[in-house]
Amino acid sequence: MLSSLTIGSLARESGRLARKHRSAAQCEEYSEAMASGRRKVTVVGAGMVGGTAAQILALRDYADVVLVDIVEGLPQGKALDLMQAGPLLGYDTNLTGTNGYEATADSDVVVITSGIARKPGMSRDDLLKTNMGIVRSVTEQVAKASPNAIIIVVSNPLDAMCHVAFDAAGFPRERVIGMAGVLDSARFRTFIAMELDVSVEDVSAFVLGGHGDTMVPLSRYSTVAGIPITELLPADRVKALEERTANGGAEIVGLLKTGSAYYAPGASVVEMVDAIVLDKKRVLPCSIYLQGEYGINDTYVGVPVKLGANGVEQILPLNLSDGEKAALKKSADAVQDLVAAMERIKSEA
Ligand SMILES: NC(=O)c1ccc[n+]([C@@H]2O[C@H](COP(=O)([O-])OP(=O)(O)OC[C@H]3O[C@@H](n4cnc5c(N)ncnc54)[C@H](O)[C@@H]3O)[C@@H](O)[C@H]2O)c1
Repeated sequence: MLSSLTIGSLARESGRLARKHRSAAQCEEYSEAMASGRRKVTVVGAGMVGGTAAQILALRDYADVVLVDIVEGLPQGKALDLMQAGPLLGYDTNLTGTNGYEATADSDVVVITSGIARKPGMSRDDLLKTNMGIVRSVTEQVAKASPNAIIIVVSNPLDAMCHVAFDAAGFPRERVIGMAGVLDSARFRTFIAMELDVSVEDVSAFVLGGHGDTMVPLSRYSTVAGIPITELLPADRVKALEERTANGGAEIVGLLKTGSAYYAPGASVVEMVDAIVLDKKRVLPCSIYLQGEYGINDTYVGVPVKLGANGVEQILPLNLSDGEKAALKKSADAVQDLVAAMERIKSEA
């Protein structure tokens, strides 16, 4: 039988191995982040996406994580379970589960995943009414507890919920950002890699627009080792991959039957948190409140942004064709329709 000492040293060894598998560059970034003290990331909604994001964040080991949910016991149970994985996976992340906001005070980043998820046959827009109430009340509470935080909105319908959070938080637009483009682009990258039988590492892709049926996969800017996919695949295959990407969420809802995707959404959240906590200046497609950029006004839509310690540090311009501009405008119009619907719901209440 192994003594507790041996078990302890095995746990330490597995932690050492987990750390060893980080690249030298990652280690350097991590130590810089840690040098300025342990960060705090709050994840509101301890469901499938929130729980997955918390797990990947715990593995990052650069911030303590606070999980919040209205269901009593759920965030506490998940936080404790994740803490107990620490000795096995080699992280020292402190995880706290709570039904209130006190423990979230002074978070650096707050991820909002609270709400209901899509069931089969339900559109993201069906979620509008329920989730707008949840996102508003949650945002008011996190903004009060963490006035300097950067908020990442995940709840659907995504771009409309960004409007709600932006309004409720009263933060500058740079600090209220929506996660959708990172996920949609990851899906596009996956399908491109599958089609061409190449490593996903060599595929980069961009999906702009709202997170919905009107999203705009930008094939001209999607490449394999720098070669645009439009030069590697016939037009009908490119179109098929774009369509599969636009239906990427629904495809998984159809398969799971009882909920929507969470592994890739959780990982997409953490890609954004990494960029902020480690001040990486990543260029990622994120939903941001446009004020004239891309010819779009006062609307949250996904476009390429530079993401760093200050949140959105730059909105990058892209040279779009007339067709792409029209598709982006259509996507923004769809978001505006939801914003108008929310106004109607509010006035009827
Ligand atoms: N932006 C994207 O790309 C993307 C991807 C996947 C899922 N989503 C959305 O993310 C949301 C969460 O999805 P999920 O699969 O994790 O759902 P889930 O049902 O597993 O989790 C949602 C959690 O929110 C909690 N919650 C509800 N009201 C709350 C409140 N007022 N305060 C705190 N917590 C509250 C629920 O108790 C639940 O645990 C959904 O709206 C879903 O559509 C978005």
